[in-house]
Amino acid sequence: MRLLVCGGAGFIGSNFARVRVHDHGDEVVVLDKLTYAGRRENLADLADSPGFALVHGAIEDAQAVASAFAESQPDAVVNFAAETHVDRSIAEPDAFVQTNWLGTHVLLEAARQKGTRYVQISTDEVYGSIGEGSFTESSPLAPSSPYAATKTGADLLVSSYVHTYGLPAMVCRGSNNYGPFQYPEKLIPLMVLSALHGERLPVYGDGLQVRNWLYVTDFAHAIGCVLAKGVPGEVYNVGGPDECPNLEIVNRIVELTGADPRLIEHVRDRPGHDRRYSLSSAKVRTLGWEPQVRLEDGLADTVDWYRANPWWWEPIRSGEYRDYYERHYGRALSTD
Ligand SMILES: NC(=O)c1ccc[n+]([C@@H]2O[C@H](COP(=O)([O-])OP(=O)(O)OC[C@H]3O[C@@H](n4cnc5c(N)ncnc54)[C@H](O)[C@@H]3O)[C@@H](O)[C@H]2O)c1
Repeated sequence: MRLLVCGGAGFIGSNFARVRVHDHGDEVVVLDKLTYAGRRENLADLADSPGFALVHGAIEDAQAVASAFAESQPDAVVNFAAETHVDRSIAEPDAFVQTNWLGTHVLLEAARQKGTRYVQISTDEVYGSIGEGSFTESSPLAPSSPYAATKTGADLLVSSYVHTYGLPAMVCRGSNNYGPFQYPEKLIPLMVLSALHGERLPVYGDGLQVRNWLYVTDFAHAIGCVLAKGVPGEVYNVGGPDECPNLEIVNRIVELTGADPRLIEHVRDRPGHDRRYSLSSAKVRTLGWEPQVRLEDGLADTVDWYRANPWWWEPIRSGEYRDYYERHYGRALSTD
């Protein structure tokens, strides 16, 4: 296939591109704004693959999108491009509306003109929090954060393009992903890198927020199933095989890295922090998908990957991330 992968220089998009090039022999063109989270390094090993190209541009820029369509002549578009960090959406929501909602609209318009198959990558956060049981695709949408609200708006735009214009589009809602190349503002790489450096481990509130952990290549394979066999107009939930409270994740990382458990420090909770996410993946399983990686193994592999790849995270830790970390956690952490 020829694929246009928007946001393919980020964490999940780059892992997806790698799976498509290596396992499927696809020709992949990535369109990416290369924000702080999008990095050429994430795709460095694909640079010489036949048909691979990285185009620098924003999805809300209709001209950039038109050029990327012209260059890739795609059989399908997969849209990962987004501002993705909930904490940043609480501090500065503008870019989230711009990229996640308006940008999705520009992409949908381009896909509509050509009738191109389209997969929107979405999140379990569109459903909000659930005390018991799991969300299905027909559960009501109740996003809590500006991030989740803009993702919900994008999902609804996709649905409107299917119903109004007959666009062959699907939505794929993943649970919390983890694995190689994840920017260290997110829980697992934040804790792994801090633990490896003997730095404090800031846990929000009591740390008993429960997440449903999905290894990133499992998500990539699920998206591949939806791309190949998904029914236009349908939504597919993709949840990982294991639920785990954040505090337990941090404790496991402390064990895996050999860090001092006294580095764990509870800090003021995120405003509006959802307590538990849980997805039923029964529907995507009917397309032949099964998660392959249990949390225990995936977490150990992820710690090993960060340990073995300082070339990847050293420039991040000394750049924009350092300023962000100081702004966000600096005052929350004790100074002794
Ligand atoms: N990380 C998770 O746990 C998770 C779970 C479910 C769904 N998702 C969704 O998956 C997608 C990818 O998430 P991620 O964790 O890889 O995020 P990420 O922040 O690592 O990557 C986002 C990518 O989008 C690019 N981008 C941002 N704004 C852009 C714009 N205007 N135009 C073009 N490119 C732009 C960035 O440069 C970056 O490469 C997002 O849509 C996110 O909502 C993430």
